[in-house]
Amino acid sequence: MKIAVLPGDGIGVEIVAEALKVLRALDLKFEMETAPVGGAAYEQTGHPLPESTLNLAKQADAILFGAVGDWKYDSLERQFRPEQAILGLRKHLGLFANFRPAICYEQLVGASSLKPELIAGLDILIVRELTGDIYFGQPRGRRIASDGAFAGAEEAFDTMRYTRPEIERIAHVAFQAARKRSKKVTSVDKANVLETFQFWKDVVTQVHQDYPDVELEHMYVDNAAMQLVRAPKKFDVVVTGNMFGDILSDEASMLTGSIGMLPSASLNSKNQGLYEPSHGSAPDIAGKGVANPLATILSAAMMLRFSLNQEEAAQRIERAVQNVLSQGLRTPDIWSEGTKQVGTAQMGDAVVKAL
Ligand code: IPM
Ligand code: MG
Repeated sequence: MKIAVLPGDGIGVEIVAEALKVLRALDLKFEMETAPVGGAAYEQTGHPLPESTLNLAKQADAILFGAVGDWKYDSLERQFRPEQAILGLRKHLGLFANFRPAICYEQLVGASSLKPELIAGLDILIVRELTGDIYFGQPRGRRIASDGAFAGAEEAFDTMRYTRPEIERIAHVAFQAARKRSKKVTSVDKANVLETFQFWKDVVTQVHQDYPDVELEHMYVDNAAMQLVRAPKKFDVVVTGNMFGDILSDEASMLTGSIGMLPSASLNSKNQGLYEPSHGSAPDIAGKGVANPLATILSAAMMLRFSLNQEEAAQRIERAVQNVLSQGLRTPDIWSEGTKQVGTAQMGDAVVKAL
């Protein structure tokens, strides 16, 4: 089992270190190799996704990824910005299926900004398409507008597009995931305005013919954003495109109290996967030892389950995380009156002990 370890920038370094502690504490043999990515790689090699890092990722069974990005790179030409590293990995490895669970842990009901009764027991799975849509559509760029009221003015444009096979494969992933859960899929689109998402809706409806046992509902993205805060427990599996999934998954994660708790998995058709916390590099708290490592530790659990075929070890980690929460240990992002505040490393150590 070969794991490529890509800590990246900001808190990425600290939280990945804790996940590695946890992996090492299991009685499993891994080959692990670390490589720079994002801003850290740009500093070392002049590129956020160096050839050597990409090759390591391609050869590995799984990639454990921290986070990339820092404001100090905002003025770089786009191809050199840290975010290009994660987008490049997704594209080069074909990691089209992104799983972002939003689970509200019973111990953290009080940490949500929503009323406890709205989110207690919440368990949503967002299935986000990750290699298409306006994120990757060509052409894109800047030019002089050739028509319209502002012809002759400078303009910028991107291309939103999906091909049928791209929609079909993510729809299959969502319906299959729903079969293992409560058999309900909400497909989020903007079919009332966008051609791309009318097509999305049509194709998802066709794929649904293969899954008569699963209930399918369609929802416009603006309504979905509203329903997520109004009655989040009505959702089970949510499938959507790359950009809507980016936005809705951040919204869904915050329902649970903290984005610092949520893992994610991005898989290709060979079950090779990249595992990363749903949150970003948080440069404002980097190096302070206060970041919550649990999202990364739970991402490592997902990695064991989906790419390394180690279900038992995955469950051990998940139980250990429950255990430390029950002990009342909290990093600052999930702290509340009556619980014990701990730092990044203390949290990691506690999980190892609970294993
Ligand atoms: C995410 C992030 C990325 C995205 C950025 C860092 C490119 O926001 O994984 O959700 O937009 O996909
Ligand atoms: Mg995002």
